This record gives sequence, structure tokens and C-alpha cells, in this order.
Amino acid sequence: MDESLKQAVTRNILESMALGLMVVGHDGEVVVVNPALTSILGYTMEELTTSSWGGLFFSRDENREFNDALMEVISLELVNFHRRVPYTNPRTNSQMMLSLVSSFLREGEELTGVVLLVEDVTEAHQRLQRERRLLWERNILQRERADGLKKLALSVAHQVRNPIMSIAGFTQRLLKSEQLSENAREKLEIIIEESGKLEKTVKTVADYASLAPPVKGRVEVGGMIDDIRRATQERYDLSPGVDSNAALLALCIAGDRTQLIRAAMHIVDNAVEAGADGLKIHVSETADGDIFINITDNGPGIGHDELPYIFDPFYTTKPHAVGMGLTEARHIILDNQGDIIAESPPGQGATFHLNFPVAPCHL
Ligand SMILES: Nc1ncnc2c1ncn2[C@@H]1O[C@H](COP(=O)(O)OP(=O)(O)OP(=O)(O)O)[C@@H](O)[C@H]1O
Ligand SMILES: [Mg+2]
Repeated sequence: MDESLKQAVTRNILESMALGLMVVGHDGEVVVVNPALTSILGYTMEELTTSSWGGLFFSRDENREFNDALMEVISLELVNFHRRVPYTNPRTNSQMMLSLVSSFLREGEELTGVVLLVEDVTEAHQRLQRERRLLWERNILQRERADGLKKLALSVAHQVRNPIMSIAGFTQRLLKSEQLSENAREKLEIIIEESGKLEKTVKTVADYASLAPPVKGRVEVGGMIDDIRRATQERYDLSPGVDSNAALLALCIAGDRTQLIRAAMHIVDNAVEAGADGLKIHVSETADGDIFINITDNGPGIGHDELPYIFDPFYTTKPHAVGMGLTEARHIILDNQGDIIAESPPGQGATFHLNFPVAPCHL
């Protein structure tokens, strides 16, 4: 193909494609822009090509996330970076959701430009938000029922706590008597042991039932993972590996940081109790703009027939456990607009997949 034909084909593709395309040169100047990009970003071709992109986009505070994403792509040289960011079109003032994908132009070793593909995904995003809202409203009914059950559980726990303490206390006193037969002593020790178990169950149920609604803030994914790693190190002298990249770790979710860490620690506790001595946290992003946090251990895994029950209250395979850890973890994650599922392929330990919608880091 001769050179002029090649150029005509390229120009035609650039002009007819629905995706916005921008090539930013080495010095920050916009080298190539196609018409779709001008209408998506609300700047004319001239504005985009004569100013540096920094000068254009940094002037608007509401587009800070868009600016930050651009900065990250360029400064961290993120190839195949994919991010959804809100954007306010300066011409129409409409609030949009843009999908950004990046790649780089290189000549040999040298970086010569950043290629950015920009897609307007506002409609798909709004549809997703509507579906989420519907699901949330539907969950309210379930929530109200669950709240009623929580109140009942809490009052039963209060009612049961005092009699258990009395039973254990009086039994202790009886055990001090010197005239006890060996047989009687054994029975009293069983009573003490069983009261201890009952007390633990009552305490766990009371803790679960008195869990406060989440206090939502912005939780940076990387910071939250650091906290989980620190807590795991302190509790078990174990340091989970993290498989992610800086851009994903800089994303945020809307949630209650303390509660989310508490939920994650139930997963860590189980892994260690199952005999795992290695944990890996893998962070990724879905095409819908959700963040995925997978926690995988190298323990024996969870049996195929056990998997459907592990989130049920009081389901346990451990002799002295209550079986409320994963029930509480799931409750917290759902309350924080997330979701959790478990998977355990034979011979590959257990993996808990947590996902949350990404939220803007700045309120
Ligand atoms: N990582 C894991 N590896 C193997 N089995 C697991 C793992 N995580 C959960 N399980 C199984 O799921 C069950 C339920 O877990 P859950 O945390 O709800 O209760 P528990 O650990 O038994 O008791 P509790 O958390 O109240 O002390 C466990 O008893 C165990 O059989
Ligand atoms: Mg547990």
C-alpha cells in the first residue's frame, strides 16, 4: 500500500470510529485527536491540539478523577490500563461516565507517546446503577426482617447469659467440695465445659446482633489491604502476598473501613485455622467498574458439599467454634454494598471473592 493510501485509510478510521482517541506526545502536547473525542470531552479539535492536556483538564475541579487517571497513565506508564471515571462535559455540563484504556507508542526503547481510548459508557453505567438501586430496595424488606431477628437474638442472649453464669458459678462452688465422688466430679466438669461453650455462643450471637450499621466513608483499596496485612502479621505472624498494580490500589470504595477489615479477618482466621501458612490477596477490576478482591489460602480447601452452607449461621466443622465468622463477614460485606462468594477447586486451597463498586475517592 502506498504511503498516501495508508494515510487516507488511517484518517478515515480515526474520523469514523465511535471511540474517542487521543495521542499525547512526549512533552504533554496532544498530537492526534479524532472527532469522537472532541464531542465526548466537549472541547474543539483546536482546543485539544493547541493547549497541553494538563492546561485543559486541570482547570476543572469536578474532573479531578479524570485528571488523576491521566496522570497515572502517563507517570506510571500503565499499558492496558482500564478505568471508569466520572467526567463533566464543560460544553453541556452533563455528568458522564467515561471508560479509559491506555497503551503506549514506542520507538525501540524510547517512549514516544501515550495512546488513550475514551468511551462514553454513561448509559451502561446508569443502567447498572438503576439495577443496583432496585436490588437495594428489594433488600430493604429482607433487612427489616433480619433486624427484627437480630433484636430477638439480642434479647434471648441477654436472658440466657445470667442463668449460664449462675450455673457455671454454682458448679464451680460444688467442685470445691471434698466429699465428691469421682463420678460426680466428672459430671460437674462436663457442666462447666458445656456452660463455657454456651457462654461463647451467646457472646458471639450478641456481638453479631449488636453490629452497628456501617459508618460509610471513602476506603482506599491499597490502605485497606495494608491494614489487613498488618492485622494478619500481628495475629498470626504471617504476611499475605499482594498481586495488583498501583492504579488499582489507588481506587476507592464507599464503606466502613473498620467493619470491612473485621470481615476480612474472619476469612483470614478460617484460613489459618484450616492449617494454611500462606495467603494471597489479588486485586482486579471488572468491565463494570467493580473492584474484585480475592483472598486465597494454601490450606486443604473446603469440600464441595460444604460450600453451600459455610455462610449459614452456626455452620461449623470445628469442635469448639460457633460457626458465625463467615455469617458476620457476609453480613458486613452486603451492608457495605459488596458481595462475597467462595470457591475451592480441589487441591488449590480456598478462595473468597469479594467485590465492591468503585466510588470516587474525593467526596
Ligand atoms: N479457608 C477455609 N478453609 C477450609 N475450610 C473453611 C475455610 N473457611 C471456612 N471454612 C469452613 O467453613 C466453616 C464455617 O466458617 P465460619 O467462619 O462461619 O465458622 P467457624 O470458623 O467454624 O467458627 P467461628 O468463625 O464462629 O469461630 C468452617 O467451620 C470451615 O469448615
Ligand atoms: Mg471462622
